[in-house]
Amino acid sequence: MTDAAQTTFRSDLLAGKVAFISGGTSGINLGIAKRFTALGARVAVLGRDPEKARRAAAEIDAETGTEGAMALTADVRDYAAVEAAMANAAAELGKFDILIAGQAGNFPALALGMSANAFKAVIDIDLIGTFNLFRAGHQHLNLPGASLIAITAGQAVRPTPMQAHVCAAKAGINILLKTLAIEWGPMGVRVNGISPGPIEGTEGMARLAPTPEMEAMIKGGAPLRRYGRKDEIGDAAVYLCSPAGQYITGTILDVDGGTGVANGRSMPS
Ligand code: HXC
Repeated sequence: MTDAAQTTFRSDLLAGKVAFISGGTSGINLGIAKRFTALGARVAVLGRDPEKARRAAAEIDAETGTEGAMALTADVRDYAAVEAAMANAAAELGKFDILIAGQAGNFPALALGMSANAFKAVIDIDLIGTFNLFRAGHQHLNLPGASLIAITAGQAVRPTPMQAHVCAAKAGINILLKTLAIEWGPMGVRVNGISPGPIEGTEGMARLAPTPEMEAMIKGGAPLRRYGRKDEIGDAAVYLCSPAGQYITGTILDVDGGTGVANGRSMPS
């Protein structure tokens, strides 16, 4: 399979919608923020680094020919800081129609090669951070009809050496989002997950597959024989958040070129 063409479309599918995206200052989540903005949404992106957040907002505006992307700074592990950032965003943009918990920590290390604090750092960023965002964000949701997405990963369902911290954190996210889907469904809140496969140009893949050989091995193990693109994760998020996905809750969408289903048993090249 050769590279798929990037879809470049604009429409008013998300016009009037407000999206709050944590981790939206880089990588996959910045890709989602750009996709949403191109479809008419107003976005607030949250990251730890103020300068990076400012650059991300400027990039969203420049690439989509819009203005008003909002840059926010907080560490998702700090509940009060998340609350403050959200209050700020809601005051400026209005209630959130879409809330995405996309922040993630990751470094490859064997369990014996990481301290208790290193393990905890990833649990705190990924799992506790997702709880903090969804818990603090609930009061700012535009109800009924709000859509929440947690970015998870295949490590949640496939034990992976050197990823004990990520496996545990993402497995927690999977069951958390499904539980919240049950608790919050009656209020008109949908809660879903996206499980991206290897996505090109991300810090995560730079860490997990730093050499051309590793990259070739991962692509060879993917039925579609390539890395995914950030805009393809954006499209999945659009699907889940738009009226096209309005009967979907408590589900996790794999957007991975078949990597997970093949799980190392892809067809020979
Ligand atoms: C062992 C490590 C380590 C490493 C950090 N630590 N890197 N231990 N091996 N390579 C340890 C530190 O020594 C420290 O423990 C603890 O982790 C916390 O580190 P700090 O730097 O103090 O904390 P903090 O800055 O809060 O967090 C560090 C971090 C984070 C968790 C590494 O900066 C991070 O993950 N950044 C990368 C973000 C990223 O790549 N995101 C994309 C994820 S992609 P001690 O004991 O010394 O205090 C993804 C999905 C991929 O998740 C799926 C693909 C298919």
